[in-house]
Amino acid sequence: MKVVVTGGAGFIGSHFIKYLLKRYPDYKVLNIDKLTYAGNLENLKEVEKNPNYKFLKADICDNVIEDAVDGCDVIINFAAESHVDRSIQEPETFLKTDVMGTFNLLEISRKKGVQRYIQISTDEVYGSADKDYAFSEESPLNPSSPYSASKASADLLVLSYYKTYKTPVIIIRSTNNYGPNQYPEKFIPLFITNAIEDKPLPLYGDGKNVRDWLFVLDNCRAIDTILHKGEIGIIYNVAGGQEKENIFIARKILEYLDKPESLIKFVPDRPGHDRRYSISCERIKDLGWKPEVSFEEGLRITVEWYKNNEMWWKKIKSGEFLEYYRRQYKL
Ligand code: NAD
Ligand code: DAU
Repeated sequence: MKVVVTGGAGFIGSHFIKYLLKRYPDYKVLNIDKLTYAGNLENLKEVEKNPNYKFLKADICDNVIEDAVDGCDVIINFAAESHVDRSIQEPETFLKTDVMGTFNLLEISRKKGVQRYIQISTDEVYGSADKDYAFSEESPLNPSSPYSASKASADLLVLSYYKTYKTPVIIIRSTNNYGPNQYPEKFIPLFITNAIEDKPLPLYGDGKNVRDWLFVLDNCRAIDTILHKGEIGIIYNVAGGQEKENIFIARKILEYLDKPESLIKFVPDRPGHDRRYSISCERIKDLGWKPEVSFEEGLRITVEWYKNNEMWWKKIKSGEFLEYYRRQYKL
């Protein structure tokens, strides 16, 4: 099988490429990535010499990728601007990449007659869930941020291509991923790396917002399951089933690193901050998938990885990103 992965130098995409090449040694993978601030080829060091792996530095909005996609069976679109706080400050790039980039990939899929177009979406498109309620794949879209609105818009386009052109699409909406190699602007890696450096952990609002955490390798297994057994034209939710308040996670990280709770600093809330994410995922469970990594185990693995890979994240934090988050949190 020839698989085009877009955004494969980012967090989830790079894990998925390594997973796929290990699990299916005869598959060929072309990674198309623009290498924005979030793309990092160091994430792919262990496969860069694999003859079945190729990399193309390109923008998914650009027509030049059309030729590169020739002869591929599947396109899996991970490429996106993915950080909610950045979307609040600079929404335009989110619309360009997340909406127009998806549009370009759909057009290419239609013209080339690819066998599967898989859109990596998010549970954020449903918006905030009331206590004890979980959204299903049939729930209405109710996004809160420019990020989630751009992802929801892309999902609608993807579904329209199925209805109008019979493009063989599938949409995957997962909960919050965490694990090694996640860019340290996201909650868990930001808090781990700040704690290692004895810097404050900026907790938004009252710290009681709830996210449902999915270890990144469990998500790779879910995408693999859907790639091979999923039904065309269908949306699949993928839930970690491990809902936690942010403050619980902040305390766990400090406990694992043996650091004081006084490092937690409550800061003003994120505008439009969704209180709780919760989804049900019976469809993918019916395909035989369930998460295998408990939150405690996954968090321990993640904390150990950041402890043992300081070079990876210190390079990032000492550069442009540091300025960005100093400005944002006024720390
Ligand atoms: P990430 O920000 O770590 O990586 C995004 C990658 O896309 C980077 O390598 C970047 O260089 C690339 N990219 C950005 N714009 C591009 C463009 N115009 N052309 C080509 N490449 C471009 O993101 P992630 O956390 O790995 O998320 C991957 C996908 O999964 C995204 O679509 C995101 O919306 C979705 N998702 C993420 C999570 C999560 O918790 N991280 C949860 C659910 C869904
Ligand atoms: O739900 C899936 C989504 O999860 C993905 O679609 C997004 O790409 C991904 O970024 C993530 O979005 P969140 O907004 O949930 O993740 P983030 O890591 O930014 O924040 C997680 C929670 O932690 C959220 O309630 C906000 C809070 N937070 C975050 C940061 C960065 C803080 O309290 N302090 C922080 O500094």
